[in-house]
Amino acid sequence: MVSPEKIARAARCLRAGGLVAFPTETVYGLGADAGNDRAVARIFEAKGRPKFNPLIIHVADLAQAEVIVALDDRARDLAALFWPGPLSLVLPRRNAAAVSLLAGAGLDTLAVRIPAGTVARALIEAVGAPVAAPSANPAGGVSPTRAEHVIDGLGEAVDTVLDGGPCPVGIESTVLDLSERNAVLLRPGGLAREDLEAVLGPLAMVRGPSGSPHAPGQLASHYAPGVELRIDAASIRPGEALLSFGDHRLSGFAAERNLSRAGDLREAAANLFAMLRSLDRPDHTGIVAMPVPETGLGLAIMDRLRRAASPRRLAEHTCAG
Ligand code: TXA
Ligand code: MG
Repeated sequence: MVSPEKIARAARCLRAGGLVAFPTETVYGLGADAGNDRAVARIFEAKGRPKFNPLIIHVADLAQAEVIVALDDRARDLAALFWPGPLSLVLPRRNAAAVSLLAGAGLDTLAVRIPAGTVARALIEAVGAPVAAPSANPAGGVSPTRAEHVIDGLGEAVDTVLDGGPCPVGIESTVLDLSERNAVLLRPGGLAREDLEAVLGPLAMVRGPSGSPHAPGQLASHYAPGVELRIDAASIRPGEALLSFGDHRLSGFAAERNLSRAGDLREAAANLFAMLRSLDRPDHTGIVAMPVPETGLGLAIMDRLRRAASPRRLAEHTCAG
């Protein structure tokens, strides 16, 4: 696990403009001091991420959030219920916010969250300033849920990797836009839509690819493994690996990983990215994924599977977070 000395060293690295990969409850993040333009620029470089795709700003507590964004009553209610946790709120950026314009892609909003992971919180507290952190994977790839995934994907581009073991939620935070009167679900994630709707009422949702500046990262091919993925409940083609869910009678696959034999969507979310990676091998002709019910975390799981399955046009492939 991660010792206090390691966290103190990683915090010094961040303050000096370094890049630190760290575990959150959702996925590993690639962190930089959010106020340091050059450090933030290094994140975009390391990931090969397009500069119009803004980063989530991670803070240690509500007071730190209030300094950089304007929270309204809805935001405060949600923060009281779900922070620390897998929810990122898009809110109007304050003029005085000491956050690099690049981190926010020049928008007048910022996505902010207090992560629940103990390592993440300790790190941000030790830095004493907001930490900008996208998922710690090359743009367009599968998000990392273990330290090894970060090293495989980004290697030398990262100064320090804090290894906190597997991420318990396993799927990225839910991104909710509160910058307008009507709240919009920009990305389903680790906090279920139903939990938000219990507070806010029915939510509009951005579905599928969109070029709109409000959902800059919501482009089709995202979370893509190297081999082709398709979603099908009924058939397997020769050489395909099966990503299954619950009980089934399928046979004839080259390899299988089951997201959750018991049909538990939380377990499935926690397994999703590591299992996708382990099936993503050139000796498989493809991956066929069984669909999961779109309730609770199933909405986020199906969102990631659909993105992973969407055809990769070159322009889109370079447009993911
Ligand atoms: O769980 C997570 O959210 C992880 C961990 C590390 O916190 N982070 C993560 O970051 O998934 P990233 O960069 O891979 O995805 C952030 C998403 C992108 O789709 C981005 O476009 C969107 O949040 N986003 C960030 N700032 C935004 C803003 N101001 N307005 C709209 N969308 C924004
Ligand atoms: Mg990402």
